[in-house]
Amino acid sequence: MASASCLMLLVAVAMAMASAASGQLSSTFYDTSCPKALDTIKTAVTAAVSSEARMGASLLRLHFHDCFVDGCDASVLLADTGSFVGEQTAAPNAGSIRGLNVIDNIKTQVEAVCKQTVSCADILAVAARDSVVTLGGPSWTVLLGRRDSTTASKTNAENDLPPPTFDLKNLTDNFANKQLSVTDMVALSGGHTIGQSQCLNFRDRIYNETNIDAAFAASLKSNCPRSTSSGNTSLAPLDVATPTAFDNKYFVNLQANKGLLHSDQVLFNGGGTDNTVRNFASNPAAFSAAFVTAMVNMGNIAPKTGSQGQIRLSCSKVNS
Ligand code: HEM
Repeated sequence: MASASCLMLLVAVAMAMASAASGQLSSTFYDTSCPKALDTIKTAVTAAVSSEARMGASLLRLHFHDCFVDGCDASVLLADTGSFVGEQTAAPNAGSIRGLNVIDNIKTQVEAVCKQTVSCADILAVAARDSVVTLGGPSWTVLLGRRDSTTASKTNAENDLPPPTFDLKNLTDNFANKQLSVTDMVALSGGHTIGQSQCLNFRDRIYNETNIDAAFAASLKSNCPRSTSSGNTSLAPLDVATPTAFDNKYFVNLQANKGLLHSDQVLFNGGGTDNTVRNFASNPAAFSAAFVTAMVNMGNIAPKTGSQGQIRLSCSKVNS
């Protein structure tokens, strides 16, 4: 066989295996093995988000940072040890990801109702959904049955998680590498309707970019000085209009040049995604539907199923 057709066959087999793996996920996966799992997670997420709204954003982001690095397998939750380097010290995660204790706490409660049955990867997927719902966003049925990794990769976290300096083409390619469409990419970026960013991630934009509303930039500068020696960690909301509501205002902001990150504003900057942004800004139901579809697609990235991986007893470490 010519090497080109050999390669095509291999690609076809790999794609079939990938879709077979996500095909094994099921919304009823814990219905008999742990009927209380979903209620237990929902109660805990609702409590955590009620006491701090930002936690909903942090939990949504954790699921994203899990799925984009070797699939949705809870690899992001593995803590470094003396002999193990995981993903938490990778640049996009270090000093930035939050909610690890909340997930550990949920896992403890889920273990108390069903021993070693519910994976940490599934807890992340359900907690992301419940966070969005608690902050007023759409709901969806979460497919379940992911298993947890026994490894993690700092290198893959650095390579596969998009930085805020990315342009539209970088973002499109990065999401395409995860089998996500441009529409999925724009819809998922709408996750920035909640949560906050540190100054270091938007400093360059507010001081150097021109496609930014002048008053918006000025209002951010007092808390994010030009000099890096003055600090990097002060926070600003990713959605200046409605910082803790899961709504479509993120897209309305983009139309007014009020995207906080460079990677936000590139979605509405005269390029191929302008019309999608206009649609999501003017039609909340269109955004909700696209976000739900995209979250399910993201949750289907390379799950471990069957006898792959393990069900961790504690989300922060592999079973001994
Ligand atoms: C499109 C590419 C993306 C880039 C470049 C990006 C970049 C960032 C950056 C730089 C931050 C601030 C982190 C910090 O300052 O500590 C952030 C926060 C956040 N991101 Fe993204 N992100 C992207 C996509 C996504 C996706 C797909 C989701 C979820 C669907 C998401 C959800 C969030 C949330 C909710 C926060 C706030 C977290 C918190 O307040 O704890 N992001 N993102």
